[in-house]
Amino acid sequence: MRKLNMDFFVTAMQPEELSQVDAGLMAAAREALENAYAPYSQFNVGAAVLLADGTVVRGSNQENAAYPSGLCAERTAIFAAGSNYPNQRIVAVAVTARPAHSPVCVAVSPCGACRQVMLEYEVKQNQPIRFLMQGENGETYLLDSVECLLPLKFSAASLGIGKT
Ligand code: THU
Repeated sequence: MRKLNMDFFVTAMQPEELSQVDAGLMAAAREALENAYAPYSQFNVGAAVLLADGTVVRGSNQENAAYPSGLCAERTAIFAAGSNYPNQRIVAVAVTARPAHSPVCVAVSPCGACRQVMLEYEVKQNQPIRFLMQGENGETYLLDSVECLLPLKFSAASLGIGKT
């Protein structure tokens, strides 16, 4: 028997400690949440994807009366990036939220499905995707790779058709 160490680092930052690039990406995510369609949860989420050529692709959560038909901001943004810029490496993703009811004071953490989807793109490009999460106030969390969000990933390798 052996124990595997699954440690990873989260850099917890004050807003002014973000690099210029990351602060700009988070500002884009904050703008994106203005386009959220969240009449059911009233939880408006915005995401922004930074591509290697500097393009920023935005997304917001889009809900539906048939609840499972809606989609989170992260997947809306990353699928738009994959669809429109299939050959551009994804450098970073930022996410934030502004619920209608009360301010969100903790960094917004992506759901399991979004983690799985973002990790697929990291595996596809074989380079890490930086991930930033922020609430309306409080610390911003920075991860160097989305793999930190989903240890022991299920991927093409699990299906026996990929190396990673
Ligand atoms: N949501 C996101 O868009 N991203 C997250 O990281 C968490 C949750 C959305 C899904 C749904 O529209 C609403 O927030 C409440 O769960």
